Amino acid sequence: MRLEQTLFGTTFQNPVLLAAGTCGFGRELADVIDLDRLGGFVTKSVTMEPRAGNPAPRVAELDVGMVNSIGLANPGVERVRSERLPWIASNVRLARVFVSVAGHNEQEYAAVVERLDSEDGFLGFEINLSCPNDTGLAGLPFALEADSTAAVMARCRSVTSRPLLAKLAPNVPDIAVVARAAVDAGADGITLVNTMPALVMHPESGEAALGAGPGGLSGGALRPAGVRCTHRAREAVEVPIVGVGGINCASDAVQYLRAGASLVQVGTASFADPHAGERVVRGLDRLGRRAGLAKVSEWVGAAHSAGRGQ
Ligand SMILES: Cc1cc2nc3c(=O)[nH]c(=O)nc-3n(C[C@H](O)[C@H](O)[C@H](O)COP(=O)(O)O)c2cc1C
Repeated sequence: MRLEQTLFGTTFQNPVLLAAGTCGFGRELADVIDLDRLGGFVTKSVTMEPRAGNPAPRVAELDVGMVNSIGLANPGVERVRSERLPWIASNVRLARVFVSVAGHNEQEYAAVVERLDSEDGFLGFEINLSCPNDTGLAGLPFALEADSTAAVMARCRSVTSRPLLAKLAPNVPDIAVVARAAVDAGADGITLVNTMPALVMHPESGEAALGAGPGGLSGGALRPAGVRCTHRAREAVEVPIVGVGGINCASDAVQYLRAGASLVQVGTASFADPHAGERVVRGLDRLGRRAGLAKVSEWVGAAHSAGRGQ
């Protein structure tokens, strides 16, 4: 069973990446896991200025996943350029790295991309258009509308020729419309999905459990929404899709692959088990052999050719 996927002009040794915001910039996990056993990872979202993030508590654990409001805490583009990327360039050999980018407006997104574009250590950018916890945005994430999605993607496209992923939100009326807009504006791939807006309350007091009030739902409860978005987007765009949301084991990942994802990402599951990503890689190998597959790509989009998943 061959696990490699050749996409974006390179080969991923397997289709499993760690999701943005759940593995820092790699270094944070390097003593615990072997990053080079993974297909790759996506960094924490990087903004122009350093951000301290939202008030504590920032996470609430649920039986079905978790709700977080980290608020895009990150060291800012200059320290990422001078410290984080050099570490990745000298320590990560096989895993393919995407730098996640966030901003208050399209100029900020493009400025971050432009500042990092000439550095070593990474393959491309994942443009985070869908963070529900960015209180500084004073509005709604760009990915809730096709026009604002296209505006950010077009601006980023104009300053880099590296692979660009557009990371979209699950809470839109039709993900096909937003995915199409991102691709038309220059996205080379689509990442589906970010967290879903959520609120956890103390039942006695009515106070929000998180310091920032609302947050984003991730983990198992998000998986059916992510699989549905992937399946729907696959009908609308031809570029590779990266599936993320609630993947905890190989059979979860297979749902995304069958729905049309070429790669998958593991996020929340890594908090309970830092080896979750490697576990999914091994499980895919096992499930694929059992199913008599020669290569993992035989799963990709299978639900469409079989007319399933409607
Ligand atoms: C604590 C935490 C921090 C996150 N930070 C980011 C981030 O900085 N940028 C981003 O695009 N997504 C971020 N996400 C969203 C994840 O990358 C992923 O899309 C989402 O959690 C769904 O996957 P999961 O259910 O496997 O966690 C974060 C998620 C969590 C739980």
